[in-house]
Amino acid sequence: MKIKSAIFLLSASKYSGCPSDNVSEIAFCGRSNVGKSSLINAMTGQKKLAKISQTPGKTRLLNFFVINDLFRFVDLPGFGYANVPKSVKASWQKLVEEYLTRRKNLRAVVILVDARRGLRDEEMQLIDFCGHYEIPMELTFTKIDKLKSNELRHLKNECAKSPEDDSMHYSFVSSQKNMGLIELWRRLEKRLTQ
Ligand code: GTP
Ligand code: MG
Repeated sequence: MKIKSAIFLLSASKYSGCPSDNVSEIAFCGRSNVGKSSLINAMTGQKKLAKISQTPGKTRLLNFFVINDLFRFVDLPGFGYANVPKSVKASWQKLVEEYLTRRKNLRAVVILVDARRGLRDEEMQLIDFCGHYEIPMELTFTKIDKLKSNELRHLKNECAKSPEDDSMHYSFVSSQKNMGLIELWRRLEKRLTQ
């Protein structure tokens, strides 16, 4: 996909603050610090579109970006923060779940997983949740530049044991080294035109 424009639209702290649902959206969801904002920046070729920080928990809102005046990327709050009160975590979770279940224009959710950590309980729950609501998933392993080549091969072999289908596809990316981004774009273009 050729990126002609990528512009921040708005942030929403509750579902009613989301923009109209007449434009297709791709959401980015995953653990805090997994690289959601970095991936949005790398995919759009911009350094500072989505804010990145060393401090987990930076993205506390739903952040909407308009791409090519045609569709949107949505940066969702991460889960798994250590230093946040339970009540605050619950309110973010509710916001994410409300977004995922109510959004008619949601074409796919990119579920990010740190390639070094692999799938844990929270990721499995998210996959079950999206499966239950029939939301197409792009399971995307991030930070693959941190893996040795035999570790990456092993991860891909493990993934190959659970066959892909229309509801679930695997990608392997590094935002830092621009790896796997063209393949992921191909997947997302497919989702946007389906
Ligand atoms: P929250 O907004 O807190 O939920 O985090 P996030 O998922 O948006 O993660 P973010 O993009 O802010 O990245 C977190 C950290 O991981 C930053 O220090 C990034 O520089 C680093 N990072 C992101 N992508 C990559 C990558 O592909 N490779 C490496 N080595 N580091 C990365
Ligand atoms: Mg972020």
